[in-house]
Amino acid sequence: MPEQKWGTNTGFVLAAVGSAVGMGNIWRFPYITGENGGGAFLIPYFTVTILFGLIFMSLEFAVGRYYNKSIIGSLASLGSHFRWAGAFTVIVITVIAGYYFVILGWVGSFFVSTVSHDTMTFDGLTSSYYPILSFGVVLGLVAAIAAGGVSCSIERLNKYGVLALIAILVPLAIYAVSLPDSDKGIAYYLTPDYTKISDPAIWSTAFGQVFFSLSLGMGVMVAYGSYIKNKISLAKASSVIIMTNASVSVIAGFMIFSFVFSYGADPASGTNLAFVVLPQAFSEMAFGSVVGSAFFALLFIAGLTSAVSLLEVPIGALSEQFGISRRKAVLASSGIVLLVGIVASLGYSPVSLSIGDTPTLDWLDQYIGSYGVVIAAGMFAVIVMWRMDKGTLLEQLGMHGKIAMPERILYVCKYVLPVVIMLSLVFSFVS
Ligand code: PHE
Repeated sequence: MPEQKWGTNTGFVLAAVGSAVGMGNIWRFPYITGENGGGAFLIPYFTVTILFGLIFMSLEFAVGRYYNKSIIGSLASLGSHFRWAGAFTVIVITVIAGYYFVILGWVGSFFVSTVSHDTMTFDGLTSSYYPILSFGVVLGLVAAIAAGGVSCSIERLNKYGVLALIAILVPLAIYAVSLPDSDKGIAYYLTPDYTKISDPAIWSTAFGQVFFSLSLGMGVMVAYGSYIKNKISLAKASSVIIMTNASVSVIAGFMIFSFVFSYGADPASGTNLAFVVLPQAFSEMAFGSVVGSAFFALLFIAGLTSAVSLLEVPIGALSEQFGISRRKAVLASSGIVLLVGIVASLGYSPVSLSIGDTPTLDWLDQYIGSYGVVIAAGMFAVIVMWRMDKGTLLEQLGMHGKIAMPERILYVCKYVLPVVIMLSLVFSFVS
């Protein structure tokens, strides 16, 4: 089996940016900010990003680069029974892939309908079985890219993908803020409500948003770190990735709320924002079909580069654990994602499959997506910080960088990180 490695360091950084920047930045971040104190939410968001996002991302890269294995193999190297924590993480991420791909299918459908001047509505879409088809197309596309290999296919996709993303986002955001009444949207987005930041639930929301948005705690960055071939400072790479990710989120917020308020629409959240409110705004806007097509293309490209990284975790883990070829691992992983995706898809279909009153897709997101990720991230932090050799870890973190890592940083990770992750789980449970 040929070893999978990045061709260049730039390729590696762009792939990690591609994984981080996704629907979580362009769609989720703006409404979460709007709902949770507006401008004041940026305080917990940036605090968590800098204090925990940066160090957690560097840790994942360090573990991947040092052990040169998937999340399962890496954790098993620290104690054979920790393999189960790795396996749990892979299951969680495979479930997330299932519904993330379904939503990406919706985005693709809206792109096609906007380009073809069709006035499709979300209810119209989900009262057909068309979303299962679009999910299948997305899954096939991601699997084909994955089968092409890390340096040929994934690296190339991200190189063009990230460039295209910026080339679409920046002009679109400039256009949005120049619309009449965009100032009302920006006021909704950013007017700080400082009373909210003393609420622990807001910090737990910021924690969840930062980890999801940076693709942390699920073995993605361990996998991407294990493909590093050349000399690179992990702290520096992580800083670049984190800053790009945060910038895209903040710019997306300006864009989304300018669009929404310029057309007098309600700043709804969740599926309604992306698939009901915005399409309505685009339909009333001058050049709306161009703007709408650009918006859904942006969301699709951002989601596609993230989707590829989601599938990479089970692919890497299966080929490593069962000694099968990459192609077979792609097939097996896609098969599992297909099953999860169909279940998720049926939640928004004529049969409205649900668990209790919750559509299956939302249920999976709530229980597996939110709690599963925090549990997986907590296990990773505890196992790595308590079992991995301190010297090796410091060396990995400081390697090829200009500044040596202070040893104190490890104590922060060892004691503070697990406690903060636990608290975050408790608060998200309570709220
Ligand atoms: N970071 C991606 C986003 O913001 C989602 C993602 C999560 C991708 C976990 C990979 C792993 O949309």
